[in-house]
Amino acid sequence: MFGLPKAIAVTQILACLLSKASATLYLGHDISSLPMLEAAGQKYYVSGTQKKFDAIIQSAGANYIRSRIWVNPSNGDYNLAYNLALAKRAKALGLKFYLDFHYSDTWADPAHQTIPAGWPSDITNLSWEVYNYTKSVVTSFKSQGTPVDMVAIGNEITNGLLWPTGSTSNWANIASILHSAAWGVKDASTTQPLIVVHTDNGWNQATQTWFYSNLMAQGTFLSTDFDIMGFSFYPFYGTGATLANLKATLNYMISTYGKDVIIAETDFPNSCSGVTLSESSIPISAAGQTTWAKDIVSLLEGLPNSHGKGVFYWEPAWVGNAGLGSACTSALLVDSSGNTLSSINMYA
Ligand SMILES: *[C@@H]1O[C@H](CO)[C@@H](O)[C@H](O)[C@H]1NC(C)=O
Ligand SMILES: *[C@@H]1O[C@H](CO)[C@@H](O)[C@H](O)[C@H]1NC(C)=O
Repeated sequence: MFGLPKAIAVTQILACLLSKASATLYLGHDISSLPMLEAAGQKYYVSGTQKKFDAIIQSAGANYIRSRIWVNPSNGDYNLAYNLALAKRAKALGLKFYLDFHYSDTWADPAHQTIPAGWPSDITNLSWEVYNYTKSVVTSFKSQGTPVDMVAIGNEITNGLLWPTGSTSNWANIASILHSAAWGVKDASTTQPLIVVHTDNGWNQATQTWFYSNLMAQGTFLSTDFDIMGFSFYPFYGTGATLANLKATLNYMISTYGKDVIIAETDFPNSCSGVTLSESSIPISAAGQTTWAKDIVSLLEGLPNSHGKGVFYWEPAWVGNAGLGSACTSALLVDSSGNTLSSINMYA
């Protein structure tokens, strides 16, 4: 009679030890737009039953969500309050939270890195602004009891950030800004979140070598300032984005810099015509989406010294923007009515 609870306890402890021993990748989805979509009335369904999309991905095997933060967006979407609310939902489901700083009032990507309105542009004051803002935001998550687990200091910053001060015509400024950002995170935290530097075209070794050799040569942004190199990897922006090129580039970056790596953003279409994808052997379908994700996972698992850490699918639920920045018809994991596709289980 009294033996049974003890046996359960031992089983639970063993399960816990085993799960710690086996390296679980970070398997996530960027669901930045979910609260905005829900506010507009969008609903999601699994086999006809309505469910919250964050709960759907959690049941389907994800362990992380990612969300972008803008400094002072005109309508409030993606601001601090918006992200604090999303972090509460994630934590309530047992999901970890990856906060993606854009350091802008709007989209930041390789073609846009607009300095927020009201921020100084001289490098000394700008670096302090970045430090103060980053520290204050990371502290806000901690204060509401939902500390962030991972933080990207800038979004797709291959061409720099906070232009024109942090453009690639001034690598010393980029290094100063990133050093300040990293220390804003570190000084806000007792349990330090993982710090990510995020560039695009992760398959392109020449691009990544150019970026990191220039950045690290300044001697201002140090290897100890960050934990992870994060890369975007999309199949629809050029045929060079093959899994073989990605593997070669990640191996090279790991052997050169010794950092952990993640695929910070990826997608694959389930419907697409007129676009030549980088992996033509993978079918354009929900099954193909799953194959793409599983191929990335096994590629990461095969990298040396367990340096491959995780993958994040970008905006799988964004009904109304189904091409997700591509010329394809849809790269979502749901149909236009919000019904999940089989690819929702890509991490199962
Ligand atoms: C930095 O900001 C201070 C306070 O606004 C200002 O007095 C100073 O001139 C700024 N520094 C530069 C280099 O612009
Ligand atoms: C950053 O915060 C410090 C301490 O609160 C303050 O003295 C400084 O003026 C702030 N600088 C900027 C650029 O926000």
